[in-house]
Amino acid sequence: MSIRFLRSAAVYAVLGLGLGIYMAASQQFSLRPVHAHALLGGWLSMAVMGLIYKAFPAMNDRFLAPAHFWLHSLGLPVMLAGVAAIHSGRADSGEPLAGIGSILFGLGVIAFAVNLWRNAAARP
Ligand code: HEM
Ligand code: HEM
Repeated sequence: MSIRFLRSAAVYAVLGLGLGIYMAASQQFSLRPVHAHALLGGWLSMAVMGLIYKAFPAMNDRFLAPAHFWLHSLGLPVMLAGVAAIHSGRADSGEPLAGIGSILFGLGVIAFAVNLWRNAAARP
């Protein structure tokens, strides 16, 4: 699980930084929230979570760990697409995507939190 999170985090680092460079170069800042959440929710959160799964092998729970990974990996891109649409003047289609994506992302974080509380201190 750890390596899956770290690999995804690296992809978000490249995309988020690319978007930051594009915004700076074009002086077009409307996608700032997409840049911020791709880097914070993608790169930084997923990197820290990946290292936590590595540090606490007992968290490789058969249900909670993959549930977390897939909810995060589905929810975040949907949320980012929605936020991008909202900030490109297409709020009608963007808002439901941002809403659904962030709820999935949030459910993933709950799975992670439950897993951490229940299993982190157990023997693997
Ligand atoms: C090549 C590297 C980067 C470039 C060129 C870049 C560029 C930018 C630009 C142009 C803005 C908009 C500023 C504005 O609207 O006035 C911005 C905002 C932001 N960036 Fe980056 N960025 C980079 C790396 C990062 C990294 C590594 C992170 C976090 C891990 C990050 C997090 C943020 C956040 C949170 C904001 C929003 C700040 C606010 O609301 O005031 N950026 N960035
Ligand atoms: C379900 C997940 C999340 C939702 C729904 C959410 C929602 C929001 C909203 C509505 C804003 C204001 C955007 C604006 O002013 O245009 C915001 C800004 C921000 N959020 Fe989040 N957020 C989420 C997750 C996170 C996470 C995980 C982090 C950090 C690890 C984070 C860090 C920030 C920062 C630094 C800003 C200010 C950046 C900016 O002004 O562009 N958020 N968020």
